[in-house]
Amino acid sequence: MTIPEDEPTPDPTPWDVFTPRAPAGELMFINRTKDKLGERLEHALNELGAQIIVYGDTGVGKTSLVARIGGDRVARVECQDAKSFRDLLLDAFGALGVVQELRFAETHEKASEAGAEMSGGLGYIASLKARLSTKVGEKATREFEVTQQPLIDVLIEAMVDAGKHILFFDNFENIKDEGVRRSIAELMVALSDRARESGNVKIVLAGIAESATDLLHLSDSAARRAAEVSAGTMSPREIAEIVTRGMGLLGIAIGPDEVELIARLSAGYPYVAHLISLYAALGASDAGKEVTPAVLEEAIAKAVDDFHLDFSTRYRRAVEQSGGVRPRRRILHALAESDLADFDFDEALAAVKAKYGGETAYTYFNAAIGALCTENHGSLLRKRSLRGKNRYSFQNPLARAFIRLIDASSSP
Ligand SMILES: Nc1ncnc2c1ncn2[C@@H]1O[C@H](COP(=O)(O)OP(=O)(O)OP(=O)(O)O)[C@@H](O)[C@H]1O
Ligand SMILES: [Mg+2]
Repeated sequence: MTIPEDEPTPDPTPWDVFTPRAPAGELMFINRTKDKLGERLEHALNELGAQIIVYGDTGVGKTSLVARIGGDRVARVECQDAKSFRDLLLDAFGALGVVQELRFAETHEKASEAGAEMSGGLGYIASLKARLSTKVGEKATREFEVTQQPLIDVLIEAMVDAGKHILFFDNFENIKDEGVRRSIAELMVALSDRARESGNVKIVLAGIAESATDLLHLSDSAARRAAEVSAGTMSPREIAEIVTRGMGLLGIAIGPDEVELIARLSAGYPYVAHLISLYAALGASDAGKEVTPAVLEEAIAKAVDDFHLDFSTRYRRAVEQSGGVRPRRRILHALAESDLADFDFDEALAAVKAKYGGETAYTYFNAAIGALCTENHGSLLRKRSLRGKNRYSFQNPLARAFIRLIDASSSP
């Protein structure tokens, strides 16, 4: 017997509900209302011909967002560095159904202007021989045996056949090869130009980047067709909703103070909320199904140990192991506690004073904050010069959550 995908598991375990290392499932997905993120993506998906670039920091929820909002319309392709354009296309066809046989040959002869126009701007024409059986069932097996048919036609046909309208290239930051990137950009333009006849078949790219251009540099003609969606962190309320919904599904009691603490420590990262909540839920199972302060304290310590390993290595290099003032440690913890995205030196110093009080010798801290931007000391911070003034920020803002966790687990 098969259980329909959206059927809730009767007795979910903490592992089913809190999944720090997997995208959010249907039951746990929180609609992203901050900055109207969910709505913006939805609009871009509906807009005829719009090709979409979703960018943001690691762990903010890009994959979950596209997968849940796109729903059944999505065919997802995992991007890896070693993959060629051909590999990505093979994966795309694979995501559209069970591919039994798929071959295609590129003809490298450059298509004429008219040919290029007809193939939708794709730089070459491919011939493809494929037998696809879509998920609809074996009856839907369909043969593509075409020669010299533009690849784009076959791709669109296969997508429409499979009922998928969104080709989702995830983790696109892994694709470093310029040629591959250019081909994807061309494919995006081609799909835009065919949007009306294809019923709005489109590409969504998602990846870790500070801007859409960092993820994929587009020509003017491609940029005109692209909708950029920046995925930021979640609001404390959204994070709190993850915690309460998950605990509710597990029948575990949690008080508002504990929820608020998890939300504050998470610094807007659903990844961190899932991580702490997972350990809190596991601990609560032995504590009368309640997240008591003691259960949460233990969960935080476990979350620190289990956190994305890179941060603990960098943190260890960053902070002084001993000493009285330990200015590098103080700066990191003070900046992590603040919600400001970046700081000039005076603001950083004010944050240190607010947290630790006492005297802060200027030169001492100036050297320390500079050191925190160097590889020798873990590069947790970075420095940028803006109108002759240095501004400091976390190299990866997820570090803020990690340091908040350390702070919470080391204070008495
Ligand atoms: N809208 C959401 N509701 C509930 N949980 C979410 C939501 N979005 C993300 N999460 C959770 O946050 C974590 C990270 O999500 P996801 O993998 O989607 O992030 P990402 O931005 O794609 O990360 P990366 O850049 O590393 O691939 C996962 O544990 C996921 O379950
Ligand atoms: Mg992802």
